[in-house]
Amino acid sequence: MTAAVPVSDIDVYSDDVLDDPYPAYRALRDAGPAVYLSSRSLWAIARYSDVRKALADAATFSSAAGVGVSDEMNAMQTGTVLASDDPQHAELRAVLSEKLAPRALTALRSAIAEQADALVADVVARGSIDGVTDLAARLPTDVVADLIGLPREGREVLLPGADAMFASFGPLDERLRNRMPEVTAYLEFMSAMTDRAKLAPGSWGAAILDAVDEGRLAPGSAVPLMTAYLVASMDTTVHSLGNFLRLLAENQDLWQALKADPGLVGPAFEENLRLDSPAQGFTRVTTREVDVDGVVIPEGSRVLVSFASANRDERHYPDPDRFDVHRNPVDHLAFGYGVHGCAGQGLARIEARALVGSLLRRAERIEPAGEPTRHLNPAVRGLGHLPLTLVPAKEA
Ligand code: HEM
Repeated sequence: MTAAVPVSDIDVYSDDVLDDPYPAYRALRDAGPAVYLSSRSLWAIARYSDVRKALADAATFSSAAGVGVSDEMNAMQTGTVLASDDPQHAELRAVLSEKLAPRALTALRSAIAEQADALVADVVARGSIDGVTDLAARLPTDVVADLIGLPREGREVLLPGADAMFASFGPLDERLRNRMPEVTAYLEFMSAMTDRAKLAPGSWGAAILDAVDEGRLAPGSAVPLMTAYLVASMDTTVHSLGNFLRLLAENQDLWQALKADPGLVGPAFEENLRLDSPAQGFTRVTTREVDVDGVVIPEGSRVLVSFASANRDERHYPDPDRFDVHRNPVDHLAFGYGVHGCAGQGLARIEARALVGSLLRRAERIEPAGEPTRHLNPAVRGLGHLPLTLVPAKEA
């Protein structure tokens, strides 16, 4: 039976909601399986089972008209790996699939562990650090810029540019307009990467140019594809690590449990992703009228599919607002699901395990050294600053 359309005036892009979205998500889940958000002329799907079903049905919930919320910004994204449907999407994704396959990732593991260990040795020696800017933000930027094969010089534009590009999935407002210089600086840096001489041999960037030479990729798609992987890999991973460091600093029982059993780092990272998902949600456009558990969304509607709300759904996870190191939520949706499911999730896990594994060896404890501050971005959730004290391990 078709239910009346639930309508909500919650603005998921207001500062209050971005600061703490979880009460709003609960209200949306309670309002119905699909809810019309009157303030944004947007639908939202917020319950776990409906989010997963929508992500699994890319033919109905299309990414081809962009996955953000503003028409202007969506128009600029179309045709990228994130904002396309199969078969175009599959062709774009195939270009780097070998580079991210399990065998390729295994080969990267020890180099990333070394990179993480050098970084951790440095911050532990300093003692007082900002867990975001000195630690969480550094590893993902270095790792992916190296993998894409980018020159070292000029990399400082990458992280602010990627964060601003993430912001462009939200409304086209004053805050986003103010960030355009960062996007421009980023695009200027990246536009030079069609020159093979700038890219490291054997890198992801070189593989993308190979695909152009072999006719598997249109020349105009080379830089957007590098950008898609670069942008997708930075803030998301940075925030997952920042959130994880905060949990470890504020929860000594957890820190001690991981020290006693480093095998728990993996499950703890997954639970951290479930509890505070860096990618909060992306949109889709319906290609037909669709019945979401009794609520009918018309054809051509833009729909916010909320990974972060799904991961807190009490219908799926008992006591969902509690961090439980033993929950091991292998079915969380923080990396999305279906054909657009995160291409870099294996890499993100390697980075997290390397960084936290090294911290557990080199630090006796990590402690909060002040109030963390939140970085407001409409598409990714994380901290701006995280003051920490690192107490060196006796044997390190
Ligand atoms: C903790 C870190 C990460 C999180 C939480 C995350 C989250 C996500 C999510 C939710 C999606 C799905 C988007 C959608 O359905 O529209 C996605 C897609 C994607 N991610 Fe990640 N990601 C992370 C790290 C990475 C890394 C390290 C890379 C690159 C090496 C990466 C590359 C991509 C790409 C290329 C896509 C687009 C896939 C497609 O559209 O087929 N991500 N990611």
